[in-house]
Amino acid sequence: MYWLILGVLCAIFAVTALFLWQKWAAPWPQIEQLVSQIARGERPSTFLINGGKDPHRVGLALENIFARQQELELQIAGRESGTQTILGAMEDGLLVVDARSHVTLMNPTFQKQFELRDPAVGVPLVEAVRHATLDQLVAETLLTGEAMRSELSLADSRTHSERHVEVSAVPIKNADDEVTGTVVLFHDITELKQLDQIRRDFVANVSHELRTPLSILRGYIEVLFDEPQTSREELTRILSIMERHSKRLQRLVDDLLSLAQLESSHAELEISVVRMDELFNNLIRDWKEKLTGKNLKVIVDLPSETSVLRADGTRLEEALHNLLDNAVKFSPDNGQIRLRGTRCGSNVVLSVADNGIGISKEHLPRIFERFYRADKARSRELGGTGLGLAIVKHIAQLHGGRVEAESELGRGTTIRIVLPEVPPG
Ligand SMILES: Nc1ncnc2c1ncn2[C@@H]1O[C@H](COP(=O)(O)OP(=O)(O)OP(=O)(O)O)[C@@H](O)[C@H]1O
Ligand SMILES: [Mg+2]
Repeated sequence: MYWLILGVLCAIFAVTALFLWQKWAAPWPQIEQLVSQIARGERPSTFLINGGKDPHRVGLALENIFARQQELELQIAGRESGTQTILGAMEDGLLVVDARSHVTLMNPTFQKQFELRDPAVGVPLVEAVRHATLDQLVAETLLTGEAMRSELSLADSRTHSERHVEVSAVPIKNADDEVTGTVVLFHDITELKQLDQIRRDFVANVSHELRTPLSILRGYIEVLFDEPQTSREELTRILSIMERHSKRLQRLVDDLLSLAQLESSHAELEISVVRMDELFNNLIRDWKEKLTGKNLKVIVDLPSETSVLRADGTRLEEALHNLLDNAVKFSPDNGQIRLRGTRCGSNVVLSVADNGIGISKEHLPRIFERFYRADKARSRELGGTGLGLAIVKHIAQLHGGRVEAESELGRGTTIRIVLPEVPPG
């Protein structure tokens, strides 16, 4: 009997111990495994914990924690990639340094501007970019706590040229107004500078071209004032010189207006069907006097299939007029000028060729620039200002086309206007 009671008690104790072990001890290794998997960012295969209701609730809570953690990680990754996208899309260079002038951030544009292969973060600025002016600017911003501006010249090893960058450094301050770093922005102003230079050159060129005829006119007006008794022949001579220079002034102003119109954003073409034979014949008729004056022979080369094209007839006539003007001016007496119209693929090519003085290789690439003259003295003597070919180029470009020049010194020149068969718009 005694043994029986003892046996029953032992059994009760064992069952209770098993029950308690299952309820309180067994879940812990499972919980520990789940927590360490979550900490490593791994998804556990199950969140079910043996041992009844309580461990089950803990499992559910852990599952919620895991889901929340995943959500937060996604949000952080999203924000990070958003910041990187913004930094990468910035056209200006961006650099951030801390109070010790160590780099804390740079964007891809900054890397490109300073030709850095990798982002140099954590290193002193002076080591990262080795640019004394920039280093000084940042040091001054950190020291004074004031925003600074400057301009830097950076070598561009790809194009072997120099780029100009406007730099603005702004201090970063904490709540106690202490400077904790600097944000620096780098804005490329190379194109702006080039445009400014072109504008300045243009104004200088125009003033220069105006000065000569104006001073000649003034000089003769003074002569006429001072010498009222000038003989009739002398008066005729002076007046004809004045007329020549006033015509030159008129032509200069007309060309400048024409260029301004062609370059303006509202420049529009009046496209119509233009007959090429008519175009060339009109041109030859207008130039008859000058052509016969130099005994120049004109050959028109026009295959029948190129007889018409769609273009702005008046503008095209102006372009060809400038080309023929050059051909006549730069041809010797008894020379030959060839006017051609051909079709080449989907383009129409109009060309004016002469066997005149030609243009040397060094000048040829620049003859379409405004005011550019290969032989300044000769061209000016012939009354030219160097705007004719610039006008031709603009007219071709407005038609969606281009210009080409071929020349050999002493042998002659061919200028081609290449237009698409169907003009834009
Ligand atoms: N057919 C040509 N033969 C030789 N040189 C030429 C010829 N056409 C142009 N050039 C050279 O190119 C330069 C630029 O030509 P462009 O027509 O623009 O100016 P220009 O004739 O001197 O002046 P403008 O046309 O304003 O009267 C000329 O000054 C000349 O040196
Ligand atoms: Mg000309």
